[in-house]
Amino acid sequence: MSALERLGLAALHRIDPETGHGLALKALRAGLGPKGGPVTSERLRTRVAGLELPNPVGLAAGFDKNAVALDALAKTGFGFLEVGAATPRPQEGNPKPRLWRLAADRAAINRFGFNNEGMEAIATRLERRPSGGVIGLNLGANKDSADRAADFATVLRRCGPHLDFATVNVSSPNTEKLRDLQGRAALSALLDGVMAANAGLSRPLPVFLKIAPDLSEAEIEDVARVAEETRVSAIVATNTTLSRDGLTDPQKDNMGGMSGQPLFERSTRVLARLSSLTDLPLIGVGGVGSADQAYQKIRAGACAVQLYTALVYGGVSLASEIAQGLDRLLERDGFASVAEAVGTGRTDWL
Ligand SMILES: Cc1cc2nc3c(=O)[nH]c(=O)nc-3n(C[C@H](O)[C@H](O)[C@H](O)COP(=O)(O)O)c2cc1C
Repeated sequence: MSALERLGLAALHRIDPETGHGLALKALRAGLGPKGGPVTSERLRTRVAGLELPNPVGLAAGFDKNAVALDALAKTGFGFLEVGAATPRPQEGNPKPRLWRLAADRAAINRFGFNNEGMEAIATRLERRPSGGVIGLNLGANKDSADRAADFATVLRRCGPHLDFATVNVSSPNTEKLRDLQGRAALSALLDGVMAANAGLSRPLPVFLKIAPDLSEAEIEDVARVAEETRVSAIVATNTTLSRDGLTDPQKDNMGGMSGQPLFERSTRVLARLSSLTDLPLIGVGGVGSADQAYQKIRAGACAVQLYTALVYGGVSLASEIAQGLDRLLERDGFASVAEAVGTGRTDWL
């Protein structure tokens, strides 16, 4: 982290977290972020669900919900970006406050509830996206929608032409009953609709499915089967958790989804379990804050990783630090590529 980034973060941490995040996005757009571009090397370059990634370290959904900082984010070290969640109609989300920093635990709790400017505004920004680079969109549903399942397909139809991948997010804990869509029958019907919309695009995309870390063993098995049957291209594991295990920060009793360091173990166990159940590519998310943790996710079965909360504490330059560190760890252990390392440590997590 540069001295400037350290100062900036210290200042942001003195103000309310949601305002601070807005300012961080503004600073990025003003050109104050890293500019080196995606870190890459022979070892780091990798292919996931048909996407060519310069490195396997991606930005997780929720950081840039409205796709306002695509140009700046494309200049950071990330190998791919996921923006959104986008819903068909603009939505305020839950009342504030709805984001808490749990500094003592290097964690966060949020209950945003899909606040976003809606698919039209987001599609307009995606139309002007930087060329090159891999950009995906997290698809969501409006809280008051008459047909939430159909919302995912609606957003995909509108934004799909400007994307490299799309992620069906049925795992946010902040929209009541959304996670019920992870059940076998509901998920199957929802994904059939999304895949039909995808087939109708002039350039169909890899469609990913993002799941919660709080699923039972049987539910994880169902998700793996349905994902295979409906031919999604990858599973993203995981979203935030309702668990408060391991937290010490006084803010820990706020309602919402918890992310960051204390989520690492839980999400990596779900990832490893999935990896033993399916050959679909997996994207490991949850508590990644160091190269070693990115490497552990890959060895647990992830083809690529994503992160968000660690950026709150380590700054956006963490993306390059993690990608570079991962390259060194792969080299140290004699792996010629990311792909060679995938799943080599899975049993440690089962
Ligand atoms: C403030 C905030 C907003 C988020 N918004 C979304 C979202 O809109 N869609 C989604 O799929 N995940 C969302 N997430 C979850 C992250 O993408 C990620 O899955 C989760 O935070 C675990 O990763 P982390 O520990 O690296 O943060 C959000 C997370 C945070 C902290």
